Amino acid sequence: MGVDNAGVLLHLYYGRKTDADMSYLIRYTDRGFSGNPYALRTNRGYSLDTLPQEYSGSGVGDYRLPAVQVVSGNGSRSVDLRYAGFRITKGREPLQGLPFVRASEKTETLVVTLRDSAIDLDIQLLYHVYPDEDVIVRSARITNNSSKTVMIEKAASACVDFLYGNYDVIHFHGRHCMERMQERFALPRGITSFGSRRGMSSHHSNPFVILCDRHTTENTGDSYGCMLMYSGNHHEEFEVDQAGSTRLVSGIHPDGFSWMLAPEEAFETPEAILSFSADGLNGLSRHYHDIIRKQIIAPRWQQARRPVLINSWEAAYFDFDAQKILRFANAARDMDIEMLVLDDGWFGKRNDDNSGLGDWTVNEHKLGCTMKELSDRIHDLGLKFGLWFEPEMVNEDSDLFRSHPEWALRDPDREPMLARNQLVLDMSRQDVVDYLFSAMCSILDSTRIEYVKWDFNRSIANFYSHALPASRQGEVAHRFILGTYQLLEKLLSRYPDLMIEGCSGGGGRFDAGMLYYCPQIWCSDDTDPIERLEIQRGTSYGYPVSTMGAHVSASPNHQTGRAVSLHTRGIVAQSGTFGYELNPEKLSDAEKEEIKKQIRDYHRYADLIAHGTYYRLTEPSDTPDYCAWMFVSQDRTEALVNLVMTHVRANGPFPFVKLQGLLPERIYHLQEQSQQFTGASLMYGGYSFQLSPGDYCSVQLHFT
Ligand code: GLA
Repeated sequence: MGVDNAGVLLHLYYGRKTDADMSYLIRYTDRGFSGNPYALRTNRGYSLDTLPQEYSGSGVGDYRLPAVQVVSGNGSRSVDLRYAGFRITKGREPLQGLPFVRASEKTETLVVTLRDSAIDLDIQLLYHVYPDEDVIVRSARITNNSSKTVMIEKAASACVDFLYGNYDVIHFHGRHCMERMQERFALPRGITSFGSRRGMSSHHSNPFVILCDRHTTENTGDSYGCMLMYSGNHHEEFEVDQAGSTRLVSGIHPDGFSWMLAPEEAFETPEAILSFSADGLNGLSRHYHDIIRKQIIAPRWQQARRPVLINSWEAAYFDFDAQKILRFANAARDMDIEMLVLDDGWFGKRNDDNSGLGDWTVNEHKLGCTMKELSDRIHDLGLKFGLWFEPEMVNEDSDLFRSHPEWALRDPDREPMLARNQLVLDMSRQDVVDYLFSAMCSILDSTRIEYVKWDFNRSIANFYSHALPASRQGEVAHRFILGTYQLLEKLLSRYPDLMIEGCSGGGGRFDAGMLYYCPQIWCSDDTDPIERLEIQRGTSYGYPVSTMGAHVSASPNHQTGRAVSLHTRGIVAQSGTFGYELNPEKLSDAEKEEIKKQIRDYHRYADLIAHGTYYRLTEPSDTPDYCAWMFVSQDRTEALVNLVMTHVRANGPFPFVKLQGLLPERIYHLQEQSQQFTGASLMYGGYSFQLSPGDYCSVQLHFT
């Protein structure tokens, strides 16, 4: 970036490293209808509308996407920013009330101050640099230095102008049970935008986007990522302007958002995690996997091997008592499973999904014992114990709602919008956060619990808080997520060893914000391994497999009815945080033996999978009949290759892949087949698979 003669902070370049002054890239020209700031009125070649901005203002002649919109005391909507100074410091400060990328030893911070002197507003642009992971983390802090309250209507975390080039965008859309499907297309002229107004990062549009060259592939070419570290309403916008320049703006979704900023107050945006790679999309993914594994996941969980769990949901749904759960635990113990998770249905009046949310008291009548007794007996078997919560929700049919109807988000003059028959609690209220904290603590204090599954099972509507005045209702969506973060923070401060797995009807809140608190997130309610290939592959563009909850479930699968071998189900779930979600009493002896072997394999490869380098080896468009991926250890002496057939053909070609990330000169042994290869042959000549026919068959190869 550079400050020009008018004091405007121009964005010069972002890409492959260079130490050069890149200001030669800026060209000035008089484009009709792109006007000139008053101070430069004699220079028609100077226009905010044609120059790349580091953080774009609004209403003052740059007609492209604004990064910030503010209504000042006199009703004006203009924001005109000029450079006012910078400082560079070692390390970084945390954000207040928001998750952030934790400092590494090499982190440095640049703070650039921009000022609108007419409204006396300062915007500090924060840049935290992570050289090892090749990541720049951006956010903005807006401070009102005037004597009048202003209203912020948009506050982006990052704005990046790409002066030249034609780009494709890749975004991750989806739905419940089919999250993070990647879609790539050439950015058209005009505005393209993605985002969520559901009060959650959502199944439908993940807060991660990639901009890449038209010819970028998995392993070659330039790509840029922008990941918002935020779990609420978010927006990713692109504009290709009159001259073919591209602007990216990302931050809190401005629709329905406003924030009253009184004199001397400051507003901080969430962080946007930016990265560039010249090594294709796999290269970009590696940067995100590294930063998430090293600087976002809590240190407590970075190296810890996650327990192999069995979850009661698809095993029993709401139909259980303690005896049944103990039978599951017994069978699980015999198969070397390490933790039992009791899912939905253990509290209040909760025998189906119509009632009980909010009443976090144990239903001892249903269980037939106390939760402590159940947990103790599970621990006596040598298993850990986990419990499901959905803290931010309430059913109308609950004691909590009957005593505190004003605690639910709802418009006072309308019927509420229901989903799964539930309402959403007003997490912007401190009394709601405090209630949930004490309700959860009373269970966590009285029962030995190592793990909590934190669910969130509807999109929010009726963003209306009974605790805020009319003028502040635009703050509810953001205050909601701040309340959720506060509750997570309080619980983790009190129970530092508690593992919280995020969840939202599967992967509806799979984002870097939740990952700051939750080292793993249930990736999807779709446990069909063939569908999971796409879901986990799509998720892998931004997020490491060590964060993706993945379970072996029953066959035929409960969501799709598809029958798939236990072997393939195991291979797919192993590329995630491994577990089981099926009724162990229905397993044959042979299946139980196979599961024991799967768990042995999981332990054998767990570190390679969790800490190794991950490569997508196939693209669905090139190889529609199979999906392959691999892990390479950090020292590159060990690799695990997985291939799953998604369509078996009579007399078909051999599935074939080129391996990645090996050392070309080294000899790699393929133990299973007593063969050896050079790294070069496996990477340049590739490897073809000879499979015995059968639906959805799979192979796993371990090279050392
Ligand atoms: C959501 C979760 C499931 C399960 C159910 C329980 O759908 O994603 O795993 O916990 O809620 O109601």
